[in-house]
Amino acid sequence: MGSQRSVVITGASRGLGFASACHLYRNGWHVLAAMRSVDTGMKALRDATGAADDDPRLTGVTLDLTDTGSIETAAQTITAAVGAPHALVHNAGISAAGMVEETPTSLWERMFATTVFGPVALTKALLPEMRRTGRGRIVLVSSQGGVRGMPATAPYSAAKGALERWGEAMAAEVAPFGIGVTILVTGTYDTEIITDAGTTDCRDLAGVYAPHHATMDKRGRAAMRMAARSPEKFAAGLSKALESTKPFVKVPVGPDARMLMIANRLLPAAGLHQMTRLMMGIPRFGALGGQSNG
Ligand SMILES: NC(=O)c1ccc[n+]([C@@H]2O[C@H](COP(=O)([O-])OP(=O)(O)OC[C@H]3O[C@@H](n4cnc5c(N)ncnc54)[C@H](OP(=O)(O)O)[C@@H]3O)[C@@H](O)[C@H]2O)c1
Repeated sequence: MGSQRSVVITGASRGLGFASACHLYRNGWHVLAAMRSVDTGMKALRDATGAADDDPRLTGVTLDLTDTGSIETAAQTITAAVGAPHALVHNAGISAAGMVEETPTSLWERMFATTVFGPVALTKALLPEMRRTGRGRIVLVSSQGGVRGMPATAPYSAAKGALERWGEAMAAEVAPFGIGVTILVTGTYDTEIITDAGTTDCRDLAGVYAPHHATMDKRGRAAMRMAARSPEKFAAGLSKALESTKPFVKVPVGPDARMLMIANRLLPAAGLHQMTRLMMGIPRFGALGGQSNG
């Protein structure tokens, strides 16, 4: 165990978690890469980093955040490997597209299980050891959707908002034990989660919201393509965030996230509503009143 710093990263199989695992491994951390498919994920990580199969600084941890048993086993694996990790990065996530009326309850449940309930359970399992050690940092990977509810992705926004409120509350609880909490408000990065293939599609493209979807799809995709940065840039931001010694930090990672956080501070809530509506091309208040084909 020694003095080497250890970091648990969930969702390390691909995207931002994968890039972060590679980056932190190269920077000398002991990376505990938590993922659903350890065989394929660890092979990819070893191929990318050049780590040997028996490298003690790269440990695979099987974790499905929607499965209570899997979370308990993962926590035991982590504790057996490093005791209290120096950092715990809650990165795993899913995305979904669709209006509230279109999105089934099962999707809301899966979203909250993956983003809130699973991470809370894993944190609870690891906190006693972290408290005893008297140090550690818990990082919550949030999103612009966690700063402000975004249309056509209510479950994602609601879950990220809940993640942030959980982090703020917990930070005050664990600070006296030397444990800090960081919320990373993540901008747009080029991973599967921003593609059709990486998003659960609940939209009804022939329903009452069809015109909204058409406009939002065009504007949203174009904006995302323009804003998307390489996952390595996120990894560098996470790496910097892990150096913080403050009890609570909420920081943007990426220029678009920074701009939204500034707008959220400066504009009244009603102004942000209008800004979002205009950017997404959603008709003005009452424009569709009385119309219905559903
Ligand atoms: N990319 C962006 O523009 C962006 C913007 C804002 C916030 N974020 C946040 O950044 C985080 C990482 O996203 P990403 O961009 O890297 O997306 P991604 O490429 O789609 O990766 C998502 C990761 O989460 C894992 N995951 C999903 N469900 C899981 C579950 N039930 N248990 C364990 N792991 C699970 C996936 O594992 P499998 O390989 O097993 O599916 C995968 O490793 C997410 O929290 C996301 O909300 C991303």
